[in-house]
Amino acid sequence: MATTPKKALSVLLVTGFIIGFMVSLSSSCPTRCEKEILWTLFARQIGGGTNRNQEQSVPPVNSTDNTRFGAIVTNNWVVLDAPVPAGKIVAHARGTHTKAGPAAGDWFTSLSIVFEGARFNGSTFQIMGITDIGGQWAIVGGTGELALAQGTIKHKAIIQADPENYRQLDIHAFYTPQAVSGNAIAIE
Ligand SMILES: *[C@@H]1O[C@H](CO)[C@@H](O)[C@H](O)[C@H]1NC(C)=O
Ligand SMILES: *[C@@H]1O[C@H](CO)[C@@H](O)[C@H](O)[C@H]1NC(C)=O
Repeated sequence: MATTPKKALSVLLVTGFIIGFMVSLSSSCPTRCEKEILWTLFARQIGGGTNRNQEQSVPPVNSTDNTRFGAIVTNNWVVLDAPVPAGKIVAHARGTHTKAGPAAGDWFTSLSIVFEGARFNGSTFQIMGITDIGGQWAIVGGTGELALAQGTIKHKAIIQADPENYRQLDIHAFYTPQAVSGNAIAIE
């Protein structure tokens, strides 16, 4: 079928527009794939003794007020795959908890859960929430393979003994690992 020059030009323009549109789509919006994780782990908190894994870094302003309002404790809790001393180390929960209210459980907590070993090595969850005997923390972000993480960690102190306890962490999150090319090179 014969095509008039004018028609040919408009077909060319439309085709060019579609190709340009597809190119800009593929370069500005790489394919990403959200993943879900459900994982139960156990944080071991040791408050005293030579093996303690937390330290009060800011004492309460009013030392005679036994609520300890204002105290800040820096923690490096070990995160294990079982609530026993010989559990396999999966991560460390590094950050601070601040006494931000009068009740015993009013500890505002801000943590990086830094994974190590075979799964998620070097990746992190960023955590915020209140640490009472039980409750929930928010997963507000992540890094590495756990990029763009969002979710919750239900936590509960299941073994409480002075000076240490084990806290069960029921993790439920969605995350989006960085898109990679066929050569496993990040494309963003
Ligand atoms: C410190 O705390 C004690 C006990 O709660 C209280 O009686 C006292 O007034 C507080 N002191 C100041 C300066 O707030
Ligand atoms: C985890 O990463 C560290 C630092 O890059 C590395 O030294 C270690 O061998 C890694 N461990 C595993 C199990 O991949």
